[in-house]
This record gives sequence, C-alpha cells and structure tokens, in this order.
Amino acid sequence: MSLFWGLLQAGLFQLDPERAHRLSIALLKAAPAPILAKIAGHGQKHGQADDPSLAIDFDRIGLHFKNPVGLAAGYDKDAEALPALSALGFGFVECGSLTPRPQAGNTRPRLFRLAKDRAVINRMGFNNQGHEAALARIEKARRQKIAPLGINLGANKDSPDRIGDYESGIRLFGGVADYFAVNISSPNTPGLRDLQQGDALPALLARLVAARDLYARPKDRPPVPIFLKIAPDLSPDARLMIAQIACERGIEGLIISNTTITRPAHLRDDAKDEAGGLSGAPLKDLSAEILADFYRLSGGRLILIGVGA
Ligand SMILES: Cc1cc2nc3c(=O)[nH]c(=O)nc-3n(C[C@H](O)[C@H](O)[C@H](O)COP(=O)(O)O)c2cc1C
Repeated sequence: MSLFWGLLQAGLFQLDPERAHRLSIALLKAAPAPILAKIAGHGQKHGQADDPSLAIDFDRIGLHFKNPVGLAAGYDKDAEALPALSALGFGFVECGSLTPRPQAGNTRPRLFRLAKDRAVINRMGFNNQGHEAALARIEKARRQKIAPLGINLGANKDSPDRIGDYESGIRLFGGVADYFAVNISSPNTPGLRDLQQGDALPALLARLVAARDLYARPKDRPPVPIFLKIAPDLSPDARLMIAQIACERGIEGLIISNTTITRPAHLRDDAKDEAGGLSGAPLKDLSAEILADFYRLSGGRLILIGVGA
C-alpha cells in the first residue's frame, strides 16, 4: 500500500466506522476526477490506463468492462459518488441496495470493524434515500463518462409486496442501468433471504424478467441483464435449485456472494459476536468455494461475478 493510502486508512480508522464511511464519500464527492485518477495511479484520463488484455466483453448482453475489478454494493448506496468512483479506475460500479421508499435502516451502532481479522460486520438494514433520489443523481452522473453501472435493488422492510419492490426498480431504472443486481441475500432485512427458496424464487424471477423485457430499449441494445445476488450460507440443495431456476428463467448471472451469518472459529476480534453479516478476509474462501460450485452447477451457462475478500 502506498504511503498516501496507508495514511488515509490510518486516519479513517481513528473514526467510528460509519462516520469514516460517510467522510470518505464526502471526500470523493469533493475531489476533482483528474486528481482522483492520478492518486489512484489510473492515468490522466479515466479509462485509458487499463491494459486491453484486462477487458471483459459480454457482447451478447451488451456489457463491456475495461477491467474485471468492480465496486460491490453497499459502499455508494445512494449513487452519490459515481463519477469519482469511476475515476478511481473501477471496471464497473454498483450502487445500492436501493428500496422504493427511503429507509433509515437499523439503529446505530450497526457497522463494526474487526481489525484483527481484516473483516467487517454490518447490520445496516438497507439504509438508503430511496429510488427517486438515486435516479436523479444517476441521470446527472450519466451525462459524464462513468464506468458501467450496476443498480442493486432491495425491498423495503415493511413492504407488503417485496417482489413488487424489485419490479418497480426494474421499471424505474431500465433506462439508466447497465445491469441489475437483485439482492435477496441481505441478512439484515428479516425474511428477505426466503426469496432464495422454494416457490418464491421462480415467482420472483418470472416477474422480474417480464418487467425487464417490457422496457423498450433502443434496438441496438439487448435487455438490461439481471444478476441475482446470493448468500454464501446456502445448503447444497439450495445451490442446485438456484442454479437450475436461474438458467431456466433466463437471467444472465449471479453475484456470489453477500455477507455471511456464520462466524468462523478463527475470528479473534472482540466484535466478532455482533449480529449481522460478516465480510472481508474471513469470507474469501467461503465465497470462492460457492463461486466454484455454481460454475459447476450451471455448466458455465451463467455469468458469475465473485465478491468477498
Ligand atoms: C457496510 C456494508 C454494507 C453493505 N450493503 C450492501 C447492500 O446494500 N447491498 C448488497 O447487495 N450488499 C451489501 N453489502 C455486501 C457487499 O456488497 C459484499 O457482498 C460483501 O461485503 C462481501 O464482499 P467484501 O468481503 O469484499 O466486502 C454490504 C457490505 C458492507 C460491509
């Protein structure tokens, strides 16, 4: 890590984690894009520093990444810093999770650093400013050059029709999303993970694909790809069922994985028993194992985006 990034991290680690997160977003919004690109060692102009061999082209679904390293959902939930994050050099950026109505999320503290384990536990609970606020920002960001944009959709905690919440996101953001990430794996919204199971999943995917296909895109652009974001805590049977249904229902891929509700025995930090989802170094092997399993189960027919390090 360079001296600059080391000092920045040391400074942010002096603050409460959620304040540090907010401060980092504020700094990104304030910093001019060329300076960010330079600090990140990503050349003078965004997008010109990547070696062409790093590019990933999914021509069939109209997705083109200049490099394979994207930013996962949860950092820029409300799409506040898309041009800045693009200038840092990410190959793609995912905002959200976004719910139709604004939501405060769980009470604080709800984000915990496990410094000894190079990990984080969060129980944020889909705190976000809602669809309309994000749409206005995304439309503005779209007037500049930004990295391919994933819009990660969630459901309001008190929604009477959670599938309807995802559907409304697909309808609203159809013109500005490069792909959709359908997050049914957050452990912090009670019952949400049930959408990964039984009859719920085919019903969800049927409605989402239908909503997506109704959106009239220009003739040269295929329908917006849909990726399902899944949990790492799935039984072998559940994995098989998800792979089969995802292939049958015609979604493009999976994002593997969200945070885990398990706690590996080797965790050392005092915060290890906080409730919520664990991410970071202790998730790496688990998410890599599930990723490999889904490649096998889907016979390579689904695009898989790996998350968890
Ligand atoms: C504070 C925090 C908030 C998150 N919020 C979301 C979210 O809103 N939607 C989502 O799909 N994933 C969310 N995630 C999960 C991340 O996108 C990612 O799947 C997970 O952290 C594992 O990756 P990592 O180990 O590289 O952090 C969140 C993670 C953290 C730490």
